[in-house]
Amino acid sequence: MSASISASHGDAGEADRPVLTITGATKRFGPVLALSEIDIAVRRGEILCLLGDNGAGKSTLIKCISGVHRLDSGTIVIDGQTTAIRSPAEARSAGIETVYQDLALFDNLTPAQNFFAGREIAGPKWLPRGLRFLRQRQMDCEAASLLAGLKVTLPRNDAVVAMMSGGQRQAIAVARSTVFARKVVILDEPTAALGLRESRQVLDLVARLRDQGNAVILITHNMEHVIELANRAVVLRQGRKVGELIPTAHNKQQLVAMIVGA
Ligand SMILES: Nc1ncnc2c1ncn2[C@@H]1O[C@H](COP(=O)(O)OP(=O)(O)OP(=O)(O)O)[C@@H](O)[C@H]1O
Ligand SMILES: [Mg+2]
Repeated sequence: MSASISASHGDAGEADRPVLTITGATKRFGPVLALSEIDIAVRRGEILCLLGDNGAGKSTLIKCISGVHRLDSGTIVIDGQTTAIRSPAEARSAGIETVYQDLALFDNLTPAQNFFAGREIAGPKWLPRGLRFLRQRQMDCEAASLLAGLKVTLPRNDAVVAMMSGGQRQAIAVARSTVFARKVVILDEPTAALGLRESRQVLDLVARLRDQGNAVILITHNMEHVIELANRAVVLRQGRKVGELIPTAHNKQQLVAMIVGA
């Protein structure tokens, strides 16, 4: 196992091995069994859709992977190594980027400031003001060129995020993950409440995340998006995994039946 750790990014053997494997994931909130013995695995360059009705346990599962919650039992293996994820910071340093359902952008900051929030290159407050200003300019330029490179167009880059539409905000949050993602990107309903054009922009970014070689876990209720993007779909119901299949236009009804338990 350890011999393959040095394998390069594009190595064929490595591509076959799941970058993230969850086994026996179980989580209770008091009397509620939110997750019961869930197994999932996702590989580089693959989009795994996590499906299920409201309350099925999707967000709980991804929050356990991204360090917001701790599993009661179960293991998380990243690149062949069992990894304890005790905080969002630990998830991040293990290569897991998450775009949460309840968008994690700071309203009072610009896209550039949001991009680098928690990873500022502006330096500490005691730096001379001129130097801080230069670093701020550097972050603004980097964020603007990154957004342009991702074809995310904003009315202006220096406006605070509070003044942007839901779709623009969502696009910034997903774009941010494409820049910092190293292994695994988790997106919890990134197109919920978006219009057609805005959804398209976000879906294109999700495809880009996959094409960059990330393992992508996508939660969505939109079956068209599932069929368009998913390499595989895992269905949860009442905290249990009830099925896994490759979604196509032909088995859409089967997938819907699994979700609602018909
Ligand atoms: N912090 C919490 N405290 C207590 N119960 C919780 C908590 N978070 C989730 N739950 C419960 O766990 C179950 C699964 O919730 P979860 O948010 O994972 O569902 P979901 O599949 O993401 O649903 P949705 O599609 O509505 O987002 C629900 O019964 C929910 O009430
Ligand atoms: Mg949810």
